[in-house]
Amino acid sequence: MDYAYRLLMLLSALTLCLLPFSSCSAPSVGFYAGSCPAAEIIVKNTVRSASDLDPTIPGKLLRLLFHDCFVEGCDASILLQGNGTERSDPGNTSVDGFAVIDSAKRLLEIFCPETVSCADILALAARDAVEYTGGPSVQIPTGRRDGRISAAANVRPNIIDTSFTLDEMAKLFFAKGLSMDDLVTLSGGHTIGKSHCSSFNDRFKLDPDGNVTVIDSSLDQQYAVQLTKMCHAGARDDSITVNNDPGTPFQFDNQYYKILLEHKGLFQSDSALVKDNRTMNKVVEFANSQDGFFESWAVSFLKLSIVGVKTGDEGEIRQSCPMPNR
Ligand code: HEM
Repeated sequence: MDYAYRLLMLLSALTLCLLPFSSCSAPSVGFYAGSCPAAEIIVKNTVRSASDLDPTIPGKLLRLLFHDCFVEGCDASILLQGNGTERSDPGNTSVDGFAVIDSAKRLLEIFCPETVSCADILALAARDAVEYTGGPSVQIPTGRRDGRISAAANVRPNIIDTSFTLDEMAKLFFAKGLSMDDLVTLSGGHTIGKSHCSSFNDRFKLDPDGNVTVIDSSLDQQYAVQLTKMCHAGARDDSITVNNDPGTPFQFDNQYYKILLEHKGLFQSDSALVKDNRTMNKVVEFANSQDGFFESWAVSFLKLSIVGVKTGDEGEIRQSCPMPNR
């Protein structure tokens, strides 16, 4: 309720901020047009250069935003380093992409000191990561402020585990002002990126004779065998990762939904979307129409990017993303 109310208030503020000659401290599209006109292009170029060098960067940036926004809102609290911070929680061990945000911030501190928040850099970077991989270009408001609180204890209650049922996932989404349709749409983020075997290898078992037993019957048998081989290539190694989308792993497209219908969703939480009529219809719709997926993505991503944002005199504009100001 609290988040739904905040979203409503924010959307009203956004509408006001879009009026000509208006001035406001709430997030708005082009918030930095006067104070740092190059802000968005600096972030975009940083994401592009980093992704040209390392194609795994876009997936990392998108997940980084998701994990930031669900814990304490989109306030860059996940970027803060130190004992007991969100970043130090085991639930965030495999979250990455921090160096790209730090690079963009360093550049922005040269061109526009103490002006552009880390929370905005992160939201813009995730937006640009999707565009870089062929996804829709989305206009998002800026003007988020950086949080000063980051507690590991807030991670577990707010981050979705792969073992969650559809109702458990929907409950957490609702708490952030996001709907069941947003859940289906934003799960489409799994069309890019990679995952560690430890995140899904509880769905099948390899016996000493090399036989694979599929524990989770919602996973395609052949695909499970393929995954087992990938995860057991060479010595058992927790660092092995596989592509979330086996077909077009570096392309932001609607392939994720086609894979779900083939029972090749990597996580149990992905498979949950095709086990229930409340989500199945959207999965089929997006599998049949990339345009439909992209249109919904633009709306749901905007909603995600403003979950619990801090504005006005809340929080601060950090000088360095891993540290609060003194
Ligand atoms: C709804 C429930 C969700 C669950 C249970 C979930 C779970 C996971 C897990 C376990 C991983 C693999 C981590 C690893 O092993 O390294 C992962 C990766 C990823 N997730 Fe999700 N996720 C969910 C929703 C989302 C959403 C909403 C987005 C984006 C808006 C997203 C974007 C990603 C991306 C891009 C990756 C790949 C990260 C990389 O390449 O480093 N996920 N997710």
